[in-house]
Amino acid sequence: MKILITGATGLIGRSFVDIALSQGIQINFLTTKKSKINCLNKAQGFYWDPSYGDLNSDCFLGVDIIIHFAGASISKLWTSSYRKLIFSSRIDSTRLLLSSLKRLGSEHQVKQIVSASAVGIYPSDFEKIFTETAKVQPNSFMQEVVIAWEKEVDTFSSINIKVAKMRIGLVLSNKGGVLGPLKIPTAFGLGAAFGNGKQGQSWIHISDVVGVFLKACHEQWEGIFNIVAPNPVNQADFIGSLAKALNRPYFLPPIPKTLLKILVGKMSSLLLDSHWISANKLISKNYIFLYPEINKAMKDIIDPPKE
Ligand SMILES: NC(=O)c1ccc[n+]([C@@H]2O[C@H](COP(=O)([O-])OP(=O)(O)OC[C@H]3O[C@@H](n4cnc5c(N)ncnc54)[C@H](OP(=O)(O)O)[C@@H]3O)[C@@H](O)[C@H]2O)c1
Repeated sequence: MKILITGATGLIGRSFVDIALSQGIQINFLTTKKSKINCLNKAQGFYWDPSYGDLNSDCFLGVDIIIHFAGASISKLWTSSYRKLIFSSRIDSTRLLLSSLKRLGSEHQVKQIVSASAVGIYPSDFEKIFTETAKVQPNSFMQEVVIAWEKEVDTFSSINIKVAKMRIGLVLSNKGGVLGPLKIPTAFGLGAAFGNGKQGQSWIHISDVVGVFLKACHEQWEGIFNIVAPNPVNQADFIGSLAKALNRPYFLPPIPKTLLKILVGKMSSLLLDSHWISANKLISKNYIFLYPEINKAMKDIIDPPKE
């Protein structure tokens, strides 16, 4: 099996590449930084620039599956120009992949695209549990981005490529992501939730993200999948679990919603929105979670067993 990965140099991509290579899967990847072309050992890098429609079609040689992770990070300050980049980086890159494959016609053998998406596609709700069949509307910036991104990914079916859209939750990793900024205050005993702390946090351990993406490739999944662990928790318990793994006290009251809105504007939705997302579809696909419970997952990330 040979996979072409976009965004392979990011948090999820790097973990995926490591495990996939160790299983004998061949990897090509596309990077927007020429300096990163040789940064992933044993994976073949190719430069692309989706904003200029620039892509070397040799990247598709022998490729069976595309995994699409590329997109500007959503954790940088959402100025209006950066919001445009969050949007365009996902749309332009998806369009460029499709137009390049169309140009190659029968000269490529790609059969499936497995694309990242996000649970931010669902409305914020403090009670409802969302499954993949829920109707979604572009009522927030995040929803607008993810709906447009998924719609763009769907266009691959026009050239008979199977489409799997993976709505990823909060990824727990010791290399960055959501725990990066939360770890520092919590390590000093200053961890606190935001708003009322009752927001649903649909998290997943990085090893399970990689495990699910691999299974999706091996079994040629099609459709929408929530990539979350089966036991989401509220934000107060999420921070509590992090404090416990760090062996630190956790006693501060939540940081008020209004203060957060003043500090980071619309971006506060990343911390204040509530998402209780169902993992039942992954379970029905017989995916066995390595980390179904938050405390074990958090402990593994913060204090992994010594080899
Ligand atoms: N981590 C999470 O908790 C989470 C949750 C839900 C959804 N997701 C989605 O899953 C995907 C992968 O997540 P991640 O955490 O691995 O992201 P990440 O660490 O931010 O990496 C994304 C990669 O995208 C590429 N990229 C950045 N700006 C780009 C641009 N303007 N145009 C094209 N490519 C660009 C970069 O690769 P190069 O520099 O090599 O080009 C970067 O390494 C993202 O699309 C993210 O939105 C992540």
